[in-house]
Amino acid sequence: MTEIRTPRLLLRRWHDDDLAPMAEINADPRVMHWIDDGSVHDLDRTAEEIERWEEEWDDEGFGLFAVELLASGELVGFTGLYVPGFLPEAASEVAISWRLGSQFWGQGYASEAAQATLEFALQDRNLDRVISIDRLDNQASANVIRKLGMAPERETTHPVYGYPLRVHAIDLTEYQA
Ligand SMILES: CC(C)(COP(=O)(O)OP(=O)(O)OC[C@H]1O[C@@H](n2cnc3c(N)ncnc32)[C@H](O)[C@@H]1OP(=O)(O)O)[C@@H](O)C(=O)NCCC(=O)NCCS
Repeated sequence: MTEIRTPRLLLRRWHDDDLAPMAEINADPRVMHWIDDGSVHDLDRTAEEIERWEEEWDDEGFGLFAVELLASGELVGFTGLYVPGFLPEAASEVAISWRLGSQFWGQGYASEAAQATLEFALQDRNLDRVISIDRLDNQASANVIRKLGMAPERETTHPVYGYPLRVHAIDLTEYQA
């Protein structure tokens, strides 16, 4: 069982109880504006997503962690690693991603979980490079990326939705947590 504790968070695999709170996050237009076509996801789609994320853990040995608040046990959202198959030019890379409920924004949780995820990538999975792929106008995400020390590498275009994306990368052999 893969679990990581940070000062305030537990990063872990997904449980059945995560469906309702993750569906709430996926139903929030402020969160989902930044993802794919910007539409919200309903309960069934969230259940499919969680199932896929768990399969990715089994197939790849890494994945998106459910992120829980240690103090209350509430699900904050996810942070973790994925293979960015949606972008053919990056399909052989490993990317980091995050999605938190809006009530949990602005408290440093995304950065805390992302830092632990990079340490996991390096120490547990021996990955020497992780990228991130974000909409060019996603300032909140860009802040997390900057604080992690990821460097901008190139701009590209979403192959399906056509909006501009920026690819950042970090060489984990030089990563200082
Ligand atoms: C992207 C996203 C995860 C960022 O979340 P966030 O809460 O803004 O990010 P952070 O965890 O870095 O917290 C940010 C702020 O918390 C504040 N903060 C409060 N308490 C803090 C603490 N104890 N420690 C650190 N920061 C703290 C800081 O001021 C920080 O802002 P700053 O870096 O400008 O000073 C969030 O906006 C989100 O879920 N967006 C929708 C989904 C999305 O866009 N995903 C990415 C694209 S797929």
